[in-house]
Amino acid sequence: MKKRRPVVYDFLCENTELRKCNCYVEEFCSMSPLQQLRNDLASHEQQPSSSPHPWRSFFNKSELKKEVTEAMSIATRVRNFLSQHPFDQIICFDICCGKGYSSICTVECCGGRDKDMQLFMLDCNKHLKMDYLHPLYSPQCHFVPFTIQKETNNLYTFVQQQCVSLIKDSSKQVAIILFGNHLCNFLSEQFVDCVQRLCAAPQEKKNLLALLSPCCSYENPNNTMYYQQFGQNRPLLEQVFAKEFISTSLEQYDTHYLIWVYYLKQLCKQGVVRIEQDSLVLSNKNLYLIWEHLQSTA
Ligand SMILES: C[S@@+](CC[C@H](N)C(=O)[O-])C[C@H]1O[C@@H](n2cnc3c(N)ncnc32)[C@H](O)[C@@H]1O
Repeated sequence: MKKRRPVVYDFLCENTELRKCNCYVEEFCSMSPLQQLRNDLASHEQQPSSSPHPWRSFFNKSELKKEVTEAMSIATRVRNFLSQHPFDQIICFDICCGKGYSSICTVECCGGRDKDMQLFMLDCNKHLKMDYLHPLYSPQCHFVPFTIQKETNNLYTFVQQQCVSLIKDSSKQVAIILFGNHLCNFLSEQFVDCVQRLCAAPQEKKNLLALLSPCCSYENPNNTMYYQQFGQNRPLLEQVFAKEFISTSLEQYDTHYLIWVYYLKQLCKQGVVRIEQDSLVLSNKNLYLIWEHLQSTA
């Protein structure tokens, strides 16, 4: 039998202390379909001349633990939303999905295989090898090579068209869910724009959950005004956050990041958006913009 190189996921699963100190990591390591895939990977790689197993790259990301906490933060929020209502149909969009950790965790956390759940994973990187989605995740997860444009609303157009073609019966209770983990620069702006347009459409707003974790803003000329207001006045920025959004300490966050989150929040004129911190996410960018509309409360 060939000796195999372990993957990062093996290390997480076997290190009880490491996994138990974060409940997201613990839940991820306990998911039985992933455990089964880990066993498949091990037996595949012990064969004498095996080709690379499709799940190796998914399980062997160097920052797997951090990725898992980000993905599970999204997935548990989706689970909480879905538990509030017996939905007939669930349509999800993972915006800039990368390797798809958020999508896989969402299917697992929400019992997606037993539900009418369709999940569109969008990313411009056509070279992402998504063959690991088949066959286990292919009934729910669809990878779509898609480039979000800066100057158009092509993201909203895509989302809206998918919803129109999938929602066959308007009497059904449909949940529309969008998530974007660590979206940089204009990708966050386009995400907000898309949600704003969905919020403005009564049919699409009915049962809507959108989760955005913004990432780097680089030099975005659109938020200059907020730099003038807060750039040199961190105490004022913290006061605004404490008064309007979250009361926990903001010490760990870079001023640029807080201004960026604030700016994105100010773009929202439609629907209700809140900011939440998730300290279980092992990143110094763990603030989330959250839009949550349920038909009964909208
Ligand atoms: C920081 S990563 C986020 C990855 C993923 N959300 C995750 O949590 O692992 C950014 C992703 O955005 C994709 N991306 C960058 N520009 C894009 C664009 N214009 N349209 C669609 N995807 C894009 C990249 O290919 C990359 O996978």
